[in-house]
Amino acid sequence: MEQTLGIIKPDAVKKNLIGKIISIIEEKGFKIRAMKMLKLREEDAKSFYFVHREKPFYNDLVKFMTSGPVVVLLLEKENAIADWRKTMGATNPAEAEEGTIRKLFAESIQNNAVHGSDSPENALIEINFFFNKIERV
Ligand code: CMP
Repeated sequence: MEQTLGIIKPDAVKKNLIGKIISIIEEKGFKIRAMKMLKLREEDAKSFYFVHREKPFYNDLVKFMTSGPVVVLLLEKENAIADWRKTMGATNPAEAEEGTIRKLFAESIQNNAVHGSDSPENALIEINFFFNKIERV
């Protein structure tokens, strides 16, 4: 079994899409091993997206990710990292496949409804960023 970190981003939370996105997650066979709602502070978002600090979209991304609550999820299944990325669809919703979460719900390449870890190394870092041991079941 593999684990990955999912985030339901502020745009999707604002539009009352938490339930719909969690339904898709469960239908696709993921087990939710931890889950909580929180509001990132500027320093949290900056550190979570540290790898993107040189990118032109970094400041706007930090603003967006701190603009409202997010829901963070620890997801588990075989091939969880690749399967969650497939379930989310391409970063840019214009390029996302039919039926993917981003095709269904994303507003733009930035306000793209959900996040997922891109590698086993980053999944571990991102899971540890949000969840301590007693929060994981
Ligand atoms: P995410 O999968 O969370 O990883 C980095 C985030 O940066 C991405 O989703 C988008 O929200 C944002 N992002 C990536 N590329 C761009 C871009 N070209 N312009 C604006 N935002 C972007």
